[in-house]
Amino acid sequence: MPKILITEFINQISLENLNKKFDIVYDENLYGNKNDLEKKIKDYDGLIVRNKTQVNSKILKKAENLKFIGRLGVGLDNIDTEYCKNKNIHVQPATGMNAVSVAEYVVSSSMSLIKKIPMFHNGTIKGEWPRTTIKSIEINQKYLGIIGFGTIGKKVAEYSLKNGLKILAYDPYVKEINNKEIDVKLSSLNEIYEKSDIISIHLPLTDETKYMINKSSFSQMKNKPIIINTSRGSIINESDLIEAYHKNIISGFALDVFEKEPIESEFYSKIKPGMNCILTPHISGVTTESNIRVSDYIVKKITDFFN
Ligand SMILES: NC(=O)c1ccc[n+]([C@@H]2O[C@H](COP(=O)([O-])OP(=O)(O)OC[C@H]3O[C@@H](n4cnc5c(N)ncnc54)[C@H](O)[C@@H]3O)[C@@H](O)[C@H]2O)c1
Repeated sequence: MPKILITEFINQISLENLNKKFDIVYDENLYGNKNDLEKKIKDYDGLIVRNKTQVNSKILKKAENLKFIGRLGVGLDNIDTEYCKNKNIHVQPATGMNAVSVAEYVVSSSMSLIKKIPMFHNGTIKGEWPRTTIKSIEINQKYLGIIGFGTIGKKVAEYSLKNGLKILAYDPYVKEINNKEIDVKLSSLNEIYEKSDIISIHLPLTDETKYMINKSSFSQMKNKPIIINTSRGSIINESDLIEAYHKNIISGFALDVFEKEPIESEFYSKIKPGMNCILTPHISGVTTESNIRVSDYIVKKITDFFN
């Protein structure tokens, strides 16, 4: 019976299903104990992780029997995929399984920030009644710029069109969009920066995308957009983002991902209660429903693989 190691949380029923087919060791905190993981990994045929387990070459060198890595989520930046390819280890992300959850987060946070809900809330609970001092706008007919038009970017476009937004998308790997299927204009980055009222980022973290949104990008933004990042923290230069907010170049931001997670005081000390921002602890893709879908999907894939 193949031996499978799970180093981060998985849905309980999916785990019970796995237990019927494989010899499972489940330790949802093992990701934090690198030495232990390094010692144990040689015994396993399969590994199931989320985004915290660093599956780097040091771990993979010891993984003599490893044939399959299941990723309970989408981004693969915590896995050395090149090394896996060379060692013929199959890497399986849960493609699309949390796209609805992330898209709902983008829609709700863009609505909240355009409406300045964090600022109204802060003023109201302080007893200030800021009814005329804070101005908000409608989302209808505003421009949403999507950077990275893959599975999640497309779902965000689909939902946002229903809210009356006009959509621009930048993705050099997408050559054309069928406008009969979805009314989205393929655009340059510059057009997105110039026209957008909201910019949402849906890129993988790669050498090419690291710090892709930086001081120079903010300087091209003309409409004081809201910035939403649910992809990976290091894609935006966080200091440049905070500076752009204080210089009134952008009018708000929602961050679900950060360069360092959990966020460190160096970052959160810059966030003050009256700011038009929403910070969340990397949860946009994690809901009750997506957790079940993601876990079931990886269980199916690992079962098919070893059958
Ligand atoms: N916060 C969360 O809970 C959460 C959940 C799911 C996914 N994510 C993140 O969101 C990212 C996107 O997920 P997805 O499922 O849409 O992935 P995807 O692979 O379907 O889409 C990514 C898109 O980015 C494009 N792209 C790649 N490099 C680019 C570049 N340099 N410039 C512009 N476009 C580029 C690709 O062509 C692709 O269309 C994931 O990589 C992951 O890091 C976060």
